[in-house]
Amino acid sequence: ARIQYHDFVVQATSVKRLCRTRRTITVNGQYPGPTLEVNDGDTLVVSVVNRARYNVTIHWHGIRQMRTGWADGPEFITQCPIRPGGSYTYRFTIEGQEGTLWWHAHSSWLRATVYGALIIYPRQGSTYPFTEPKRETPILLGEWWNANPIDVVNEAARTGGAPNVSDAYTINGQPGDLYSCSSSETIVVPIDKGETSLLRVINAALNQELFFAVANHRLTVVGADASYLKPFTSSVIMLGPGQTTDVLITGDQPPALYYMAARPYQSAQGAPFDNTTTTAILEYLSAPCPSRGMPSTPMMPTLPAFNDTAAAAAFTQNLRSPNSVPVPTDIDESLFFTIGLGLFNCPSNFRTDQCQGPNGTRFTSSMNNVSFVLPSSYSILQAYHQKIPGVFTTDFPAVPPVQFDYTGNVSQSLWQPVPGTKVYKLEYGSNVQLVLQDTSIVSGENHPIHIHGYNFYVVAEGFGNFNPATNTAKFNLVDPPMRNTVGVPVNGWAVIRFVADNPGVWIMHCHLDVHITWGLAMAFLVENGIGELQSIESPPEDLPPC
Ligand code: C2O
Repeated sequence: ARIQYHDFVVQATSVKRLCRTRRTITVNGQYPGPTLEVNDGDTLVVSVVNRARYNVTIHWHGIRQMRTGWADGPEFITQCPIRPGGSYTYRFTIEGQEGTLWWHAHSSWLRATVYGALIIYPRQGSTYPFTEPKRETPILLGEWWNANPIDVVNEAARTGGAPNVSDAYTINGQPGDLYSCSSSETIVVPIDKGETSLLRVINAALNQELFFAVANHRLTVVGADASYLKPFTSSVIMLGPGQTTDVLITGDQPPALYYMAARPYQSAQGAPFDNTTTTAILEYLSAPCPSRGMPSTPMMPTLPAFNDTAAAAAFTQNLRSPNSVPVPTDIDESLFFTIGLGLFNCPSNFRTDQCQGPNGTRFTSSMNNVSFVLPSSYSILQAYHQKIPGVFTTDFPAVPPVQFDYTGNVSQSLWQPVPGTKVYKLEYGSNVQLVLQDTSIVSGENHPIHIHGYNFYVVAEGFGNFNPATNTAKFNLVDPPMRNTVGVPVNGWAVIRFVADNPGVWIMHCHLDVHITWGLAMAFLVENGIGELQSIESPPEDLPPC
C-alpha cells in the first residue's frame, strides 16, 4: 500500500459553456476536478487550500473513513468550513473498498462544479472479478447553470420557492452537441472493435436522477457505489445523485459513431425540471472519423420517458451482491424514518417575495417531521468530542411522531416540520435496520438517501406504505446489494441494514441538494466502543477553527 499526496487549490476559474463564460469555482482550475486513482489499502493525503471567496469543505463520497470522521468533510457536521485563505489536509485510508466513488464540495451548492472521480483499483496483486477491460473511462454526469449556482440557491432560500432549474446536463463537464455552442467540445470516448471497456458512471448532478444509455450497446452492470454486483445486462441504467454504476461495454457493433446520453428521471409530479439531454460520442478507433467520409450523425440511444418509474424500479430490482453476504439479523435498533417535503406557513413578518412557495408558503423538508438545521459555532463531531453543550440534541425520534397514511392524501397539519439539530445515538456495534418511507406531503418523489461513513445492505424496496406484516417476508437477507446511497422509490419505501461499527458523527441526507437546503437530513452519533480500535481518532491539528 502506498501513501498518495495531492494538492487541491479551490479557486475561481473562467469556464465557457453554452456560449457564455462564467467565473466558476474549481479545483486546480479543472472542471470537473482531478481524478484520483488509488488501490484498496492506500492512504490519501489531500491538502486543500481555499483561494475562493466562499467557505468550502471536501467530502470523499462513499469512503468509509473508519475512525477518521475528521476527514469526512460535511461542513458543521465533522468540521468547520475552510475559510477563504485557509487550508486543511484530509488524511484517510481506503479499507476494503473497490470500484468507483467520487469526491465533492460539501458546502452550500459548491459541488455543482467542485467534484471529481475517485477510482479504487483492487488491492495490489489482486484483480477484478470480471474480465480485465482494455480501457476504462470515468463518465461524470453533471448539471450546469448559466448563473452562479450559489446565487441560485441563495435566491431560493430568500424567496422560499423552488430554485431555478439547471441549463444543461453534462458528461465530463461538457453538455454535448444537442445544446447550442457545444458541438466542438463534445466528449469523445474511444473503443476498439471487439474490445471490452469499463465505464465508471457517476451521477454528480445536484438535483436530478438520470437515465443513461449507449446507442446499440448493451451495458453489463458489474458494480455500484464501489461494491461489486452479480453481473447483468441492461440497455439503460438509472442513477440518483451520489450513486455510481460500473458497466462493461463491448465494441461489437459496426464501426461508427454512437451517442451515449443521459436525461432526467423525474418522479415528483408537476415539479419543474431541466428536461434536456446530454450526450458524448462513443467512437470506434478503427473507423474512419467523420471528416474522412463517415456519416457524421451518431446514433441515439432510446431512453425511458422522464416519468417512467417502472423502468427505474425494474433496473434497481436487478441489483444483487455477487455472493451471499453477512446481512445483520439480530436487530438492536429498528428505526422508521419518514422523508419528504413540507410547506411552512409564511411568518406574518415576511413579505410576499419571501413566500414564493405554493400558495404563499415556504418550502421545507424533513425526516420524522424534523427539518435539519446545521449548527454554526462548532461542528457536531467537535461538540461531541470536546463535550461542548448546546450545539445539538440527541432526541431525534426512532419512529415518526405521528403515524399516518404516508402515501395517501396527507393532511396539511403534517406539512409543518419542526426545525432542529437532532442526532440519533447508536451504540458501537449495534445492528441497525432502517425503514425509509417516502411521503406524499406536497408530492411523492424518489429520494436518493446517502449515509456518510457507512455502506448498507438494501434488503427490500417497494411502493405504497411499508407494511411489516406483509413486506418483511420478502426481505433479501442472502445477496442484497451494498450501497452508500439508496433511491427510496417515489411514494414507496426502502429497508436498509448495517452494523454501527464506525464511531463518529455521520450525516444522512437526501442527495438532491435542494432538499438538503430545505432540511432533508439528520445525523447518527455512533459512540466509541471499548479501546482505541473502536474509538474515533484525535482531531488533526489543522482542523479549521469555526
Ligand atoms: Cu455525496 Cu453528504 O454527500
